[in-house]
Formats: sequence, structure tokens, C-alpha cells
Amino acid sequence: MSAPPKILVADDEPHIRELLARCLETEGYSCSLAPDAQRALQLLEEHDYTLLISDINMPGLSGMELLQEVRSRHPDVAVILVTGVDDRKTAIRALQLGAFGYVIKPFDLNELAINVANAFERRRLTLLSRATQERLEAEVRKRTEEIRQREEEVALRLVAAAEYRDTDTGAHIRRIGLYSAAMAEILDWEPRAIDDLRVSAMMHDIGKIGVPDSILLKPGRLTEDEFAVIQQHTTIGANILENSSIPMLQMAQEIAKSHHERWDGAGYPESLAGPSIPLSARIVAVVDVYDALVHERVYRPAVPEEEVLDLMASERGNHFDPQLLDLFLENLSTFREIRQTVGS
Ligand SMILES: [Fe+2]
Ligand SMILES: [Fe+2]
Repeated sequence: MSAPPKILVADDEPHIRELLARCLETEGYSCSLAPDAQRALQLLEEHDYTLLISDINMPGLSGMELLQEVRSRHPDVAVILVTGVDDRKTAIRALQLGAFGYVIKPFDLNELAINVANAFERRRLTLLSRATQERLEAEVRKRTEEIRQREEEVALRLVAAAEYRDTDTGAHIRRIGLYSAAMAEILDWEPRAIDDLRVSAMMHDIGKIGVPDSILLKPGRLTEDEFAVIQQHTTIGANILENSSIPMLQMAQEIAKSHHERWDGAGYPESLAGPSIPLSARIVAVVDVYDALVHERVYRPAVPEEEVLDLMASERGNHFDPQLLDLFLENLSTFREIRQTVGS
């Protein structure tokens, strides 16, 4: 057997308190008594009660005020109000404020017992429905997280497929994801959007899968025509990713399409300029150039970081979004750390 539910009775008239207590104890409940609202609140802090039965008219805080305090400080405690006046308005107001019942003095002991039993039942159902609600929410969160992980896995396998043909290394692709996420964090994005950017930035060159080997893997200088073909990796990537309902892939689409746009409008494929270039793509543009230059490529050695930074600074407002470039340079240690961690 569990312990009997504990009821707190607050009434300024001693004989009413005693009467209520005796009646409730006959019904098998255990009672504490308080002569006013202050004492009631103090007892509520110290013990666990299931129900508070309070007089409305008391010196100091009224029963209505006590009801409001209890609703906000002890929401799991059910409240029944007792008053000497048969006042419909007060009754309605009490119920609106969250009282579970309302008893009028002089009360019939049966009526009191019924009110108490009803209050317990209603409280039980309220707690049950809240627990069910919380369980469902936890379930939805878990499922959402699973779906998210699956999306990410599929996206990364698409990246892995493209890597087989590309001259870019897997390490470059991983670093671009992490640098971009770090930029988004600096920009105070929502956690979900930061995570989307981490994955979608890795897909920036996915369109290279559609560029012929003879051009993609050609050692030495490209002709103007060949360069025009290479440039198509932006639109090819956008075509591969277009019309997705998945936010991560929508972001990947805009990055694939616009990561070679320039702030001054001299980029490709659409010659977009300034803020009309999606922010995600402007971020990738900065970190992609940095990472490509500081690492060696088959056709050239790595450029010393100092030179890379000078070069990037000279492209402030030309190639790069000036504010993003400033943030990148201010937080350089973060990006160096990512280079260290991922390695080449
Ligand atoms: Fe690219
Ligand atoms: Fe890249």
C-alpha cells in the first residue's frame, strides 16, 4: 500500500480547519493545517502535498492569491477553494485560475468528499496526460534525430561517390564542412542550420562528377573552352541537388551552384553580386579558397599561409564578402585548429 495522499488545509477559523481535517482523516487522508496563506506556502515548500483545500477569505493573502501562487510554484498540487459566500462569479474565477473544485460553507461532508475525490482523479489524469505528452515528444525527437542521421549518411555517400573522380581529397572536403560550420557558429546560427551547413558544404564540388575525365584530370593549363566546361560543375551540382524538400540538400544546392560567385559579381555561373549570393555559398567561397591554397595540389605546391592571407585580404570586397572575410581572419586560430585536427 502506498502512503495516503497528503492534504493541506488552510483556513483562518480553527474550528473549520479541525472539522475539515477530521472529515478528511475519516476518508483515509492525512492532513496538515495552516492558519493562513503564508504558513500554507511554507508547508508546501517543506512537504509534498497532493491537494490544498483553502478558504478564500483569510487575513493576509486571500485564497485566490494563494491559488495563483500554488499554480505557478507547485503546479502538481490540486486546489479546492472553500468560501462562506455563494458567489458564482468567485467560483468561476477560481476555476479559471486553475482550481479543481469549489465548496461552499456550510458544507456537506459528502459534498466535500466528492470534491476531493474528483480533484484527485482530475489531477491523476492531468499528470498522466502530461507524462504521455512528454513521452511522445521524446519519441518524436528521437525519430527526428534518426531521420537526420540517415539523411546525413546518404549525403556523405554521395560525396564519397564524387570523391572517386575528383582531384580534391577527402580531407579537403571534410575541412570545408568543418570550417563552414565554424563560420556559421561565429555568425550565431541555429544548431540545426550549423549542422546542415557542415554536411552541405562538403557537397560543394559534387557536380564535378559530371565533368569529363579528359578535362577534370588534365595535367597542366586548361584552354578557355576547357575552363568553361569545368565551370559547369556548379550547375551540374545544382541540377543533381535541385527540388529537394530536405533543408540540408536545399542548402547544398545553393552552395553547389554559387560557391564560385564573387562579391563583385565577376564570378560564375550567374554573375551574382553581394548579398544576392546565398550566405552559405559566400561562406564556402572564403574557406574553400583558403584551404585550396594552403594545401598542395597535383599541379602546384602549397602556398605559405602568410601569402594566402595577404592574397585573400586583397580580395576583400572583390572576391569575398568583406564582413565574412573579416570574421574569418579574426577567428583564424579556429580554422588553423581544424587544419591541425583533420590533417592533409
Ligand atoms: Fe568548385
Ligand atoms: Fe573545394
